[in-house]
Amino acid sequence: MTNYELFYSRLQKDLSTRRENNLYRETRLSPEGLIDLSSNDYLQLRTHPAVLEGARKATETYGAGSGASPLLTGFKPCHQALLDKILAWKSKKFGMLFNTGFMANQAVFSHLPQKNDLILADRLIHHSIAQTLNHSKVRFKRYLHLDLEHLERELKKTQYDTVFVVTESIFSMDGDYPDLKHLAKLKEKYGFVWILDEAHGVGVYGASGAGLAEEMGVGSMVDVMIGTLGKALGSMGAYVISDRSEIIEFLTNTAGEYIFSTFLCPSAAGAAHSAIDLVIADSDKRHSLREKSLVLRQALVKMGYNLIESDSQIIPIVLNDAGQALRMSDYFYDEGIQIGAIRFPTVPKGKERLRLSLHSAISTEQISIILKLFQKWKSKT
Ligand SMILES: Cc1ncc(COP(=O)(O)O)c(C=O)c1O
Repeated sequence: MTNYELFYSRLQKDLSTRRENNLYRETRLSPEGLIDLSSNDYLQLRTHPAVLEGARKATETYGAGSGASPLLTGFKPCHQALLDKILAWKSKKFGMLFNTGFMANQAVFSHLPQKNDLILADRLIHHSIAQTLNHSKVRFKRYLHLDLEHLERELKKTQYDTVFVVTESIFSMDGDYPDLKHLAKLKEKYGFVWILDEAHGVGVYGASGAGLAEEMGVGSMVDVMIGTLGKALGSMGAYVISDRSEIIEFLTNTAGEYIFSTFLCPSAAGAAHSAIDLVIADSDKRHSLREKSLVLRQALVKMGYNLIESDSQIIPIVLNDAGQALRMSDYFYDEGIQIGAIRFPTVPKGKERLRLSLHSAISTEQISIILKLFQKWKSKT
């Protein structure tokens, strides 16, 4: 076999191992008309008329694309207006936008920490952060998921120039969250740089929907807050905000993810802008979403399903087996309901699960259909 052929044979071997272990992934066309318990469009704003109108207006005014990176001519008035809106909403002074949350995390974690620093991260931190830290030269230690006593033991031991602590607010795959008030106290005591990824808290938590930090009253203690526009806000893109201008100036000067990439398209900025207005104005939607989540959670626990305890819109049913997760996901798909099967490496081996991602438009009738199907599955197995 030539080296050229060896390359393709290596790929084929890897792919067959994935198939054998139920870990093979493929992009499936997502049909319309199914009950969607898989997306992160928690408030169904992706298709809201005002959000579509925001996208349309920005496109007509500024074009389909931004045309350049932000430091050239890509940063338009629609981006500035969005940034101002986010800063006012989240009570932060400085910020910048990114094309995706993945890129925002890559930028923050590859540029802010330096060689003699230490990063302490929750064990289940999102892949965009873990991957960046795994490839970096900075020392990176994980503390047990949500275990702030473990974090404090690690904080007591450290002898580094700067210590960073990073957590998600609502964990994307577990739906649970840390006690941010406790974290704020630890920050006061140990003086670390606190980075919070609010991807799944925004729109659902907080009096104005600004996220879990707002709900727990600790937003001003967070040094660097990251949020996405592609989940509850129904658009795409992300922001990094802070009360310290140095953070934003430094990233603007160093982050290739920002400097060397065509900037967020105007429609995404316009859509997100309108979505924030809707989130602030409509607290009923997030209250009803959280109530529905509690109803579903209680009923599933009663049936004997193994849930991760929380009150959030992300409801993971832990199955411990990738094959079973896939079979269950297919069963629901055949019944017209999309529920994601979450497998390694998204979650650790043995923690495979079905992840129900609730949204505010789900009706009481749909909830009872879903529960009946869960009951039926239970009686079959
Ligand atoms: C916690 C968290 N951070 C960041 C991201 C990445 O955001 P985006 O989808 O905008 O790239 C995700 C996406 O799933 C996430 O769950």
